[in-house]
Amino acid sequence: MAFFTCIIQKMGNLVHKLLTMGLEHKKILIAVTGGIAAYKINFLIRDFIKKGAEVQVIMTPSALNFASALTFSTLSKNPVFSDFYGVNGTWNNHVELALWADVMIVAPCTANTLAKMVHGQCDNLVIATFLSAKCPVFIAPAMDLDMYAHPSTRQNLEMAEDYGHFIIPAEEGELASGLVGQGRMAEPGTIVKEVEDYLDSGKQSRNFAGKTILITAGPTFEAIDPVRYIGNHSSGKMGFALAEEAAKRGARVILISGPSSLQTQNKNIELHRVTSAKEMFEEVFRYYEGVDVAIASAAVADYAPKDVALEKIKKNEDNLTIELVKNPDILGTMGERKTRQFLVGFALETQNEEVNAKSKLEKKNLDMIVLNSLRDEGAGFQKDTNRIKILTADAMEEFELKSKEAVAQDILDFVEKKTLK
Ligand code: PMT
Repeated sequence: MAFFTCIIQKMGNLVHKLLTMGLEHKKILIAVTGGIAAYKINFLIRDFIKKGAEVQVIMTPSALNFASALTFSTLSKNPVFSDFYGVNGTWNNHVELALWADVMIVAPCTANTLAKMVHGQCDNLVIATFLSAKCPVFIAPAMDLDMYAHPSTRQNLEMAEDYGHFIIPAEEGELASGLVGQGRMAEPGTIVKEVEDYLDSGKQSRNFAGKTILITAGPTFEAIDPVRYIGNHSSGKMGFALAEEAAKRGARVILISGPSSLQTQNKNIELHRVTSAKEMFEEVFRYYEGVDVAIASAAVADYAPKDVALEKIKKNEDNLTIELVKNPDILGTMGERKTRQFLVGFALETQNEEVNAKSKLEKKNLDMIVLNSLRDEGAGFQKDTNRIKILTADAMEEFELKSKEAVAQDILDFVEKKTLK
């Protein structure tokens, strides 16, 4: 009998474990702002705790008009902070709170707090904590339907998404004003599920937290005269996708890009814009020594005009000869100066692809090389997709045609496997 009881107990434990897998022992920081939906946070805290999470709550001053800090504190079994200073002159350290959290949830998030979040207007503990947070941030907006539909709110939500935060959209229904429409905060069950799904999906992998990754992107332009240059068709899409993915995984990213129209809003990406190969070289070696991983996805011009004409060259002659000289090999020099960095090169080939890529891997002292061929449809310059092979000294893996975002994931999965054992 005792044997069966033991088995049943073990099965029960296993089922409980499977049911709570994503949230068990996760540290959830809930930031409550001043909206009527603040009362629902009681249920949100309860649901997270039921699933094995640890919860702390912070509140904006106006949230105190809508809900009780005492209730949140009792339910979460943790003190609730709403100001930078506690009793007896103690400091409620927003940086510690932010670093403590595995996930931060701003719920309900008013139009006012949303605007402050995206514009960095730091006038309360919630915003200071949010700006210090390195963890994923979920935002559950709640407001009247017209406020929710207003272009400024839509734009702020888009900006929050561009910064890498997750929006849990407001739901349709009856609102505090008596009007009916979209604006109700998502139900606590929905918020818990969004966070749980995110944690279970493995997307939360922040395996590069504490690491610095340098990425080169885009083309280089080599001036002929003040008007003309030698360049190539690179758009920067591949390099920017790598930068976004590396930042998502927690890395500090130094992105050194040649002329590209692409932008990034990601606060973990430091974007340095350069024009020529020589400028890219200088910028790369300002940072290279301190980085953990370097990925050279830029299409660097191998040659530049020996002399740059000071004035626009006039078309007097039938033929014009421009003497070209070799540019510095940025990746090759990174290989020579490699100490502890994990070095990833790209090879853009049109023939004998694997042989050429392998030869670059060896000559440039790389740890791995990403091969893409202009012979593959959908691969290479400007496209939103790419098709790659990854080669190391002793192995090769081939991937199908995917979006450049998915290719960036494959490349960084590979780097993770090789560097984070
Ligand atoms: O920017 P997109 O439009 O998205 O296009 C992406 C891409 C096609 C540019 C990208 O996927 C790619 O293949 N980048 C490398 C292009 C290239 O210059 O390849 P390569 O085989 O000529 O150079 C080999 C490696 O040496 C590359 O890592 C390159 O960055 C590096 N290199 C080359 C010359 C030089 N002087 N310095 C370098 O660092």
